[in-house]
Amino acid sequence: MKKGKKLYEGKAKIIFATNDKNLVIQYFKDDATAFNNQKKSTIEGKGVLNNRISEYILSNLNQIGIKNHLVKRLNMREQLVMLVEIIPIEFIVRNIATGSLTKRLGIEDGTTLERPLIEYCLKNDKLGDPNISREHILAFKWLDDIQLDLIDEKLKRLNDFLLGLFRGVGIKLVDFKVEFGFTHESGKNDIILADEISPDTCRLWDSITEKKLDKDRFRKDLGDLIPAYTEVAKRLGILHEQSNVSAVNVTKLSSVKKKNK
Ligand code: TMP
Repeated sequence: MKKGKKLYEGKAKIIFATNDKNLVIQYFKDDATAFNNQKKSTIEGKGVLNNRISEYILSNLNQIGIKNHLVKRLNMREQLVMLVEIIPIEFIVRNIATGSLTKRLGIEDGTTLERPLIEYCLKNDKLGDPNISREHILAFKWLDDIQLDLIDEKLKRLNDFLLGLFRGVGIKLVDFKVEFGFTHESGKNDIILADEISPDTCRLWDSITEKKLDKDRFRKDLGDLIPAYTEVAKRLGILHEQSNVSAVNVTKLSSVKKKNK
């Protein structure tokens, strides 16, 4: 697979063309941003961990019939993925109220929701990714009724799957954000899950201590992010239990694991 020119650069990832028009390379950067780019930093090793964690989760989604863009991980920072036309909506699912939900509606932080709450935000940095309703999505034809019902159903299934996956390793899935896109391969207009699922895009709390194991460490200055992401990866069985991972040796560790395979 030949890597071509840069097609798009986002806050945490870069997309490169390949010699196959239906496939692109997704590169995970170490950059972290919060509050619509107002807070920025580079956290060495973050991209490597997100690449591994997202690969692990997405490659397991086929089991539950959620088609997604991942073809395969290529190396420490890159994945080969299907080219999609991203739907300009961030789909958020919440199990416990925190973050922007509590700020917006005055709900007490940490309130367990009786049923998963789906929210939609317009993917538009200039407007600060505003919350939108189902009616906005239909009115502006970002999706039709059938497509949105299908996505809602996938979101619920994905939430059930992720809740179970993380519960099994002592982690509460508080909320997450995902993106979907249209594939135009062989003339069909399928909608598949794209982007990533990682501690950058989920809120993950230790089941017992409620220690934050996600990007809130960076957003709220809660201390180092790399040990928390490493903990998630270790619990999922992606990294060796005994490994003492720091930002500096994430790279070495993964190459050791490959050799041991
Ligand atoms: P929020 O409480 O800030 O709205 O975030 C809800 C979830 O969505 C949380 O898991 C973090 C994730 N998220 C992103 O992945 N990207 C974003 O730009 C934002 C605002 C949230």
